[in-house]
Amino acid sequence: MYVCVCNGVTDHQIREAAAAGCGSMTELTMRTGAGACCGSCVDTAAELLASETAARKVVHELPMACAA
Ligand code: FES
Repeated sequence: MYVCVCNGVTDHQIREAAAAGCGSMTELTMRTGAGACCGSCVDTAAELLASETAARKVVHELPMACAA
């Protein structure tokens, strides 16, 4: 689904950016262009980035938590 219509940025691209280590909306804008025009996508893009980052953090931290 398109999150940023102005720049043609999809939810898939935002998930890929999160997987590549993108940790802020500013960085997401630099990497993809999302939010660089009208800004109406910023809230949705930031929420998607945050949820994807949190989900990845849990997955990466679970093995350490179990080992402790
Ligand atoms: S919809 Fe993303 S900048 Fe306009």
